[in-house]
This record gives sequence, C-alpha cells and structure tokens, in this order.
Amino acid sequence: MNATARRLVIVSNRVPELAPPGSDEEQRRRSVGGLVSALRPAVEETGGLWLGWSGRTLSRLGRREARVTDVGSIRLVTLDLSESEVREFYTGYCNRTLWPLFHAFTERFTQGLGHYSAYREVNRLFAQQLEPFLQAGDLIWAHDYHLFPLGSELRRLGWEDPIGFFLHIPFPPSQILMVLPGAKRLLEQLLEYDVLGFHTERYAENFLRAVVEELGAEREDSTIRWNDRSIRVGAYPIGTDPAGFRRCAESAAARRFATRLSRTMRATHLVLGVDRLDYTKGIPQRLRAFEHLLQLYPEWRGHVSMVQISVPSRTRVPEYRRQKEEVDRLVGEINGRFSEADWIPIRYLYRSYSHEQLASFYRLADVGLITPIRDGMNLVAKEFIACQSHENPGALVLSRFCGAADELTDAIIVNPFDLEGVAMGIDLGLRMSLDERRGRQERLARQVEVNTAGAWRSRFMADLTAVATDLQHASSRAEGDGDELVAENGSRYPG
Ligand code: G6P
Repeated sequence: MNATARRLVIVSNRVPELAPPGSDEEQRRRSVGGLVSALRPAVEETGGLWLGWSGRTLSRLGRREARVTDVGSIRLVTLDLSESEVREFYTGYCNRTLWPLFHAFTERFTQGLGHYSAYREVNRLFAQQLEPFLQAGDLIWAHDYHLFPLGSELRRLGWEDPIGFFLHIPFPPSQILMVLPGAKRLLEQLLEYDVLGFHTERYAENFLRAVVEELGAEREDSTIRWNDRSIRVGAYPIGTDPAGFRRCAESAAARRFATRLSRTMRATHLVLGVDRLDYTKGIPQRLRAFEHLLQLYPEWRGHVSMVQISVPSRTRVPEYRRQKEEVDRLVGEINGRFSEADWIPIRYLYRSYSHEQLASFYRLADVGLITPIRDGMNLVAKEFIACQSHENPGALVLSRFCGAADELTDAIIVNPFDLEGVAMGIDLGLRMSLDERRGRQERLARQVEVNTAGAWRSRFMADLTAVATDLQHASSRAEGDGDELVAENGSRYPG
C-alpha cells in the first residue's frame, strides 16, 4: 500500500471550517494558513476525514451526536461539548494544567478537582465517535496536548493499525514534567502511538529521556521499545506556506492596506509584534523592552513606533484575562509617559487581522519583534521572513526560547528577560545596513523555504506510512508462519 492509497484521518481539538471547493468563501478560508492549510491538501487527496470539537456547547437538552459534513472529498466530523466539559477539559485541564506546565510556567499550573477525569472522558468520547468511521488501512494522525490519551482510547476499542501524534507545544525536561500528577501515565499514553513528532530535537530528546528515566523504557537512537512495540520519535519542525504569504504581501489588497497604514504612521520606523494574547508570548516584557529603547536611545523618540497586534485568545481562562489587564495598563503607562502631540510610541491592536493585512504589517515593519518567553515553534517569525522584500527587508529580533530560534539563526537572537539586551537588539535591527539585512534575509528565507508546512506534513506522513507498511509486512509474515505451522502439524489438512 502506498501513501496515497491510505486515507488520512486527522483528529484535533480545533477543526477547520470548511466551505465548498471553488467557492469564494473557500478561497478566503484557504488563505487562512496554519495547521489547517498544512494538512488539508493531504486529507483532500486521500478522501480523508477530520474529527474534532465544533467549538460549540451542547445545549442542556441536546443529544450527543456527531455532525457529519462532506466538503468535496473531505469528511468533517464535529462534536459539541457540554458546558462542564468545556470548563473542565478545555479551559481546565488543557489550558490551566497542561499548557502552563509544558511551557515551563510551573507557578501558573493548577489542577482542578475532576479535571483530569473530564480530559480522559473527552478523549474517550472522541475515540468512540471516530471508531465507526474508521477503515482498515487508515492513517490516524492526532494533534496536540488536548489528545494525549486518544491513542490509548483507540487501542481499547481494538484499533491496532498505526497512529501518529504531533505535539505543537514544547515538551519540557523531566524535572518540570514530573511536577504533573499522573505524568507517568501521560508518558505511557503517548507510547500507545507509533510515531511521535515534536518541533525540535530538544523536545524529542526531553521526551526520550523522560520515558527512559521514568518508565525504564528501552531506547535505541530515537526508537523506544515498549511492551513489544517500537515507537519512532522525531523532530519535525513545522513551517508556513512562504509562497502563499508572499502572494498575500504582494496582493493589491495588501498594497492598499499598506498605503493607508503608512499614511497614518507619523514615525518613520516601525517595530512590529504579533501574537495571540497569551502569557507565554512575553508581551509585557516586550513592551518594557521597547520602553528601555526609548530611555537608552532617546534619539528614537518621535521616529519609531511599535505596533503590537494581540489576537484575543482563551478569554474564559482567568490567567488570560489578567494578562490582558496587565498589557492594557502597561501600554497606557508607557504611552502616557512618552507620547507627544504628534507621536504615540505604542499602537496596541487587540483584534485579529486577515492574512493580507498581516502580510502588509510584516512588509512595512523595519523590525519584527518576536520575543516569546517559551514557544513550541512560533510561525509568526517564519511568516515575517516570508513577507519581506528582497530590495529592502526588515530585521528579525527573535527570542532564543522558541523552536524557530533553532532554525532562524541569522535573526538577532535575544533573551526576552534581558530588557536592555532586547532594546539593544531593536536598535541594532533599526540601524542595520541594507547589505547586512539583505544577506541575513537571504539565509533566513532559504531556511523558511526548506521547512514549509507541506514539507513538515510529507515527512511525518512518510514515517507513519513506513511504520504502517512495516507492520503490514510483519503481520503477513506472522500469518505466513502460522500457515506453515498449521501445515506442519497437519491439523488443517485432514487425512
Ligand atoms: C496553540 C495550540 C493549538 C491551539 C492554538 C489556539 O497554537 O498549540 O492547539 O489551537 O494555540 O488556541 P485555542 O485554545 O484557541 O485552540
């Protein structure tokens, strides 16, 4: 069986919103990028299936029923979750327990009573709802921390074919992981998968060490032997769609937006930050670092503005509401201190933008300031590079604590906690000669072109397919051996 013959089945907490192929709506959504655009072509090609949470809450009287929508060759299966499941599974265990801990925010980690049970129950529900749709030979690929136990739940239902899992957030070192009650159980659940993918070698290594040290699993290079099974562990750095972003940056809509933007910007230089509003992104530290720039290099006052785009996120989680309050306060404080009648240092935009608009911001920026405290990969950094022009590229100032820093080594790499260091990084970026910016951009763009979203998907699927093929061969051999045995002892051939 080859890769195209196997149907791809994706399971993720969030599902794509699919519109009929060829429609305007579909065109718009296709440009949306991220996980969906990385995976969609493969699901489409193989006539595959995608299952996840609808994002909606089950009404109290509502019956639990999967909603099935066929869009072109993709089958989309969505489930509503009850109010308490959203609270305990999504807001609770996923976003107040796993998320902070895996990002090494041990002081923010909480574990509410009953939240793990709800987490396990939702994973069981996903597995049960998926099972009737499965066909022999399907390649199942589960995504992210919402679904650690999904593989083990599918095994309980008797699914023996390979299942892949990709973690979109960091995998922490054992010292941090073991803070989690039930961490060993989580490791065992992960070992029910056949291929485990992480963004970087470091995260893969953290996982490999944890299963060896904590479970006593056997390791040979990057393969784990556990309960008579082999599990492949690897680094698959996710990427973006650079060609798509370039097209966005060069589109007429983007150009119009850029013209409007530059007309309203009084300052001659633009420093840009773009994130979901999340405490892992280090937005308060970044604002303080910009304040340091204005203090340390007063010559920039009136000549540089920072645009911080913060996309609203997880607003039901108290830590996110507090983060928003802190950011609001800081922007007010810094603007209050430095603004002039005709210049505002920070423009804070708490909303989301279309990809064309984002591409305009990226292209206009003199400095992309991407300084998360901890981030699995950070695709904004790669999108920023994809959108720069060769003639006059901006400079990228990047935190050393994100997966992207392992690849984008030609960026100005900073420690987001070192406010003076970040201020110096911004200053360096603003003053960098055109020649140096071009040289760096060329090397960075090459890197972004290598690890695209499509390349990420193909590499992971090739490994999962190889495992599936190996298992198939092994089971045909076992069946063959069985036949021989039966023939030798003659029981199948009477007389
Ligand atoms: C991160 C996670 C994704 C998640 C996204 C948005 O990138 O790795 O799994 O979908 O944040 O968060 P949300 O809670 O809105 O799905």
